[in-house]
Amino acid sequence: MAEIFVVDDDVMLQEMLVSQLQRSGHQASCASTLAEGVKQVAAGEYDVVFLDVQMPDGNGLEYLPEFKAASSSPEVIIITGKGDDDGAKKAILNGAWAYVEKPDVIQELFLHLTRVLQYREEKKMHNKAPLVLKRDSIIGSSPLLTQCLKEVALAAFSEASVLITGETGTGKELFARAIHENSKRADHHFITVDCAALPDNLIESTLFGYVKGAFTGAESNREGLIRLADGGTLFLDEVGELPVNIQKRFLRVLQERAYRPVGSAREEVSNFRVVAATNIDVDHSVDQGTFRKDLLYRLKAFSFSLPPLRKRKKDIKTLTRYFLARMCDRSNLDCKGIAPDFIEHLITYDWPGNVRELQHTLEQVVAGAVQTPTLFAYHLPEHFRVRQAQAAIQSPPSNTGPVVSAAESLAPPAWQDYKKESEKKYIYNLMRYAKGNITIACQVSRLSRTRLYQLREKHDLLAST
Ligand SMILES: Nc1ncnc2c1ncn2[C@@H]1O[C@H](COP(=O)(O)OP(=O)(O)OP(=O)(O)O)[C@@H](O)[C@H]1O
Ligand SMILES: [Mg+2]
Repeated sequence: MAEIFVVDDDVMLQEMLVSQLQRSGHQASCASTLAEGVKQVAAGEYDVVFLDVQMPDGNGLEYLPEFKAASSSPEVIIITGKGDDDGAKKAILNGAWAYVEKPDVIQELFLHLTRVLQYREEKKMHNKAPLVLKRDSIIGSSPLLTQCLKEVALAAFSEASVLITGETGTGKELFARAIHENSKRADHHFITVDCAALPDNLIESTLFGYVKGAFTGAESNREGLIRLADGGTLFLDEVGELPVNIQKRFLRVLQERAYRPVGSAREEVSNFRVVAATNIDVDHSVDQGTFRKDLLYRLKAFSFSLPPLRKRKKDIKTLTRYFLARMCDRSNLDCKGIAPDFIEHLITYDWPGNVRELQHTLEQVVAGAVQTPTLFAYHLPEHFRVRQAQAAIQSPPSNTGPVVSAAESLAPPAWQDYKKESEKKYIYNLMRYAKGNITIACQVSRLSRTRLYQLREKHDLLAST
């Protein structure tokens, strides 16, 4: 539910908006003059203000900064009777969320509202998320990794289920633990369920536990993993492998946090938070019918993906130093120096096994170079050096691959240039087709007015189309 304020002198539109908003469970109030609107919004706690442009006591756009400056910093959606490019430009430059023409307001109301409220919710979470994250042993400072750490902070702050995706060895389990350790559940257990290794005949008793006498050999009550996660975090590792026959039961457990131990007549409740991880494309499994869509939605209220090491090569050096220092320390060896060619070799490699593969490679290096104070490329495992040497001498294939014409063999333009040119062409053709009519152009392209305006401005097409 959100607090919404409507500033419009058109009483009929005011009433329509307010009643639509209230019917959807929002609180809505309104004013018919700018002076009254500014006063009320400043005194209240509003999330969104719908602001008309032509008002009896002035132009709404002039007051936009005042509305935005209210203590609740509301988002402002401009509603106007007559679309004009200058007004749209001014509105956007002054921080309006969107610029909507009146005939479309009711129709587009919830579209804009859903987006703006989601944006606001996320903004609130960002502001409240802990600034200092206990990142323990998560090493790296590349922009991609830093972004993932931000996701950890957000996820730790909320109670929503989290799905972490990423190739093998990218650190999914490490990040899942970091979410737990930074959450208010940190003093309780972090329980791992390896969904790929649940023994078929023991799935239920492993997860839900059992009572004495439930089956031959059940000599006393035994708690399952779900019970052990009470108050803490249940980590569903390799969740994409969760057997189909258990998915439906699991969905119910996630929805109700209730389960029944094997052989018990009573349901029990466990207050756990779910973090799941997978390196398979679960959306694809949903399409294939091997993973329930409703379960996936439950699991990924919040989701992020860990980048492969080859996309954040900047971290290779830091990780290498960190692992080497730790390994030498554990083996009571002096810390080793690193020659530039050693790091170069590591950086040029693609690391399909990601951080885990780097870690294992370095373990092999340290084991084989106990006496050596400085590590050179020569100390890397043989198979690794052979592969690199082969890659270095491999010339491009001379007579393989499709034959290309002279035109095709010209280097294509840079992707960004190509994209920019195509975008410009599209907007130009769109506006010609719509004969300059913004409403038609928006309908055809499904672009919002604001976006269309921005694109026309970006490509210098405001005057010509
Ligand atoms: N950023 C990092 N800093 C330090 N160590 C890391 C980092 N990322 C991963 N590791 C280490 O790499 C190894 C593999 O990480 P982890 O087990 O979390 O990967 P995973 O994504 O769960 O892999 P899989 O899909 O194969 O289960 C662990 O030893 C982990 O501590
Ligand atoms: Mg793992």
